[in-house]
Amino acid sequence: MNRTTAAPTAGVPVGPGLSMFDPIFIGIDEFGQPVYITLAYRNLLAGGEPGGGKSGLLNTIAAHAALSVDSRLVLLDGKLVELGQWEDIADAFIGPDITAALAVLRRLQQVMNNRYAWLRAHGRRKLTAADRLSVITVLVDEIAFFSATVGSKQEQEEFVALLRDLVARGRAAGIPVVAATQRPSFDIIPTSLRDLFGYRAAFRCTTPNSSNIVLGHGWAEQGYSATDIPPTNQGAAYLIAEGGTPRRIKAAYLSDAQIAGIADYAAWVRRPGGLTTPTGTPADWGMAA
Ligand SMILES: Nc1ncnc2c1ncn2[C@@H]1O[C@H](COP(=O)(O)OP(=O)(O)OP(=O)(O)O)[C@@H](O)[C@H]1O
Ligand SMILES: [Mg+2]
Repeated sequence: MNRTTAAPTAGVPVGPGLSMFDPIFIGIDEFGQPVYITLAYRNLLAGGEPGGGKSGLLNTIAAHAALSVDSRLVLLDGKLVELGQWEDIADAFIGPDITAALAVLRRLQQVMNNRYAWLRAHGRRKLTAADRLSVITVLVDEIAFFSATVGSKQEQEEFVALLRDLVARGRAAGIPVVAATQRPSFDIIPTSLRDLFGYRAAFRCTTPNSSNIVLGHGWAEQGYSATDIPPTNQGAAYLIAEGGTPRRIKAAYLSDAQIAGIADYAAWVRRPGGLTTPTGTPADWGMAA
């Protein structure tokens, strides 16, 4: 291979590229076994009290998406610093600006509609990896910031309506949503919205009710309550996948330096002309056949 630039970061422990259709490693379970999720066709909601580890999980997912050559990133981060390190490789990075947030969600809705029109024209119901259309991974750090804090009431309502539409219809069109909230309450996460998230992760919660709002009604009464996670055990959560039973996990955590290294590597992999598939035979590239 004729490389003209060197990889800027040595030692990023990954192969040449992942896929958003691959299982995503997000941590370990109580037996130390790896826990994977598949986001191509499912959304994820992370809820729990401040400092529980929600943004840590979002960053782990963002890292997989960044290294996935078939993924593009759209980031909404009211705090700017939670997902800020991925800004350079994101198609859109929205800070505390409701007008920009609404514009990007409207645009995503249009892309989603176009993709459905395309699928319909081909007599299909969902996108697959073979379609070679990018999975657009949408990460929202703090739903409540956009739906209840910034902007006018009308703008907040439009934000909720657009987000709900994306969560409801985006999956099959390759537009999964990963969203976090430190306010798991009925006004922020109504049941009808909660149930659209195929994966839900409850980090430490202060009441069984807020744990139930994330996981689903009745789980706390059956012994699955995120109130039993000690405040010192950051990154521990109950994860439920559609139709399953909650599972206690410890999310993987990337330090700021590790994120910087991965983002750097991802930017290099994504450089213009960097994703071309080699043609010819190994002999043509100077390698033994
Ligand atoms: N999986 C983890 N393993 C170990 N430590 C973690 C993990 N996740 C988070 N932490 C620690 O907890 C701190 C807070 O985590 P994080 O920022 O993800 O919380 P949060 O739920 O997003 O909080 P907030 O609601 O305030 O945004 C981190 O800075 C880190 O020190
Ligand atoms: Mg956070």
